[in-house]
Amino acid sequence: MLLERYLESLGSDAIQKALGLDGPRPAIVRPTTDPKFGDFQINGAMPLGKELGKPPRELAQPIAEVLTGVDAIEKAEVAGPGFVNIHLATDWIASKLHEAARDAGRDGVPVVEEPSKIVVDFSSPNIAKQMHVGHLRSTIIGDALARILSFMGHEVVRDNHLGDWGTQFGLLIIGMREWGDEAALQADPIVELERVYKLASERAGNDQAFAEQARVELAKLQSGDTENRRLWEHFVEVSRGNLDAVYDELDVSFDLWLGESAYHDALPGVVEELLQRGIAREDEGAVCVFWEDVNDVPKALRKQKTPFIVQKKDGAFLYSTTDIATVLYRRDALHADRALYVVDNRQGLHFQQLFAVMKLLGVDMDLEHIGFGTVLGRDGKPLRTRDASGNVITLASLLEESKQRARQRIEEGIAEGRLRVRPEEMDEVSRVVGIGAVKYADLRQNRLSDYQFDWDKMISFQGNAGPYLQYAYARSASIFAKGGLDMEAAANATIALDAPAELALGKQLLRFSDVVYQAGATSQPHLICEHIYELARAFNGFYAECPVLDAEGASRESRLGLTALTARQIRRGLGLVGIGVVDRM
Ligand code: ARG
Repeated sequence: MLLERYLESLGSDAIQKALGLDGPRPAIVRPTTDPKFGDFQINGAMPLGKELGKPPRELAQPIAEVLTGVDAIEKAEVAGPGFVNIHLATDWIASKLHEAARDAGRDGVPVVEEPSKIVVDFSSPNIAKQMHVGHLRSTIIGDALARILSFMGHEVVRDNHLGDWGTQFGLLIIGMREWGDEAALQADPIVELERVYKLASERAGNDQAFAEQARVELAKLQSGDTENRRLWEHFVEVSRGNLDAVYDELDVSFDLWLGESAYHDALPGVVEELLQRGIAREDEGAVCVFWEDVNDVPKALRKQKTPFIVQKKDGAFLYSTTDIATVLYRRDALHADRALYVVDNRQGLHFQQLFAVMKLLGVDMDLEHIGFGTVLGRDGKPLRTRDASGNVITLASLLEESKQRARQRIEEGIAEGRLRVRPEEMDEVSRVVGIGAVKYADLRQNRLSDYQFDWDKMISFQGNAGPYLQYAYARSASIFAKGGLDMEAAANATIALDAPAELALGKQLLRFSDVVYQAGATSQPHLICEHIYELARAFNGFYAECPVLDAEGASRESRLGLTALTARQIRRGLGLVGIGVVDRM
């Protein structure tokens, strides 16, 4: 159940009834800032003050009286200039938790009333290169959003829009001819491709003729030359193998792999249409959208000096051209209502311009750039993606290190008697903890901010970190193992929220649906992380004060029920952001 929405409907009915109005009026509901003042605050009387010519406090009084008579509400009182503060009724909370418990498939989270079809464009690395730390954020934020939106009931299409068609291929083709080592390519393809690419781009930087040759090879590739096409397919294939390994490790999957190359045939038509409709024009042989030419563009672009170039003077198409074609495909072939682009903040201008062009073309899809900040090293500077000797720190090696560090932490925990992991489960637990730690450290941040990559804080069984939450889950799950009980059956108990710690836990559990919806609506997975962290803390408070297995009768049943609900919600919440759990540790 969506709690705030339900309270809003109660609030607006109460306003109508209390003031004898001819129709319902909106009531805005917010959590209170201090539990002293109740659980939620309803604002509805204040906007009516003017209309009805009475002081809002006077209007709020009868509203509070009507609300006090409602099942869900224990007490409603007027506050401040005309708010109504409400305290939820304990029995009502307990009955709602019971409803959520019986809904094992969804934990009480409703399905959206109007599902839409949403493309999530994420990860999308440039191939023939190792994925590096910079691709981590797009991959895990995009995956989390896709999971959240599809759980809400939307139809989600996960698309990996690979950079597989740019200038790098011209360089790679001549570079392989010049320096390529076929044996090395067979043995470790990405390493060899990278080595050659580096040499070729260095050479192109100070050798005009070489750079020109690369452009010729690219043009040949793009116009279908068999030999270059064969080489390109080979590069793509070996890169795919490498990417797949990383996605497997991260438990990330895609419905589509439509890279830039997939849109090649549509590009001339795109440029043609932009020209015909007077959106773009030729300038020194290139085709561009100049912002001063077009009416009806967002303010931020109006003074934008950089044009949106869709074709270079040598005839080549660009990232911008493929992106326009991609939106048209998503509208016409996929019938998508929305597309989310999970891409670094630094591409903000590109997307602003792209979305403005799509609007000029009359595309009414909802297009959003889901930007994110930079990962910083301990020194506060962008995390270096090369080590001291200049080698790329790949995503694969970073994940490997995380698993190793997790294993070390777990071994320490075992030695100190805090953790218990069976030797045969060690690999799996280290994997779940190590990968989960990297994901959580990223996802718990507001995505727009930069964050510092810090192994020690990240792999920690204390504080706001992935392993702490996974441990909280394992600990609550282990209570059932210890008692020889079934967690799912226990969840169905009748809940009583007598002790303050039980009530606090119950209220936190009740907020889950709202948090999931808010995270989905605002594309902010960190809201779920925050909620799960607060839930784990509320559970600790409860567990410290209320005996569970040692309690008796109805109280034992109820506490086991609360424990089961907590475990389920932690597991579900972490699952929605792509983080796994283990039952024992
Ligand atoms: N390949 C691009 C990069 O690595 C990201 C692509 C994002 N998606 C898009 N439709 N532009 O920077």
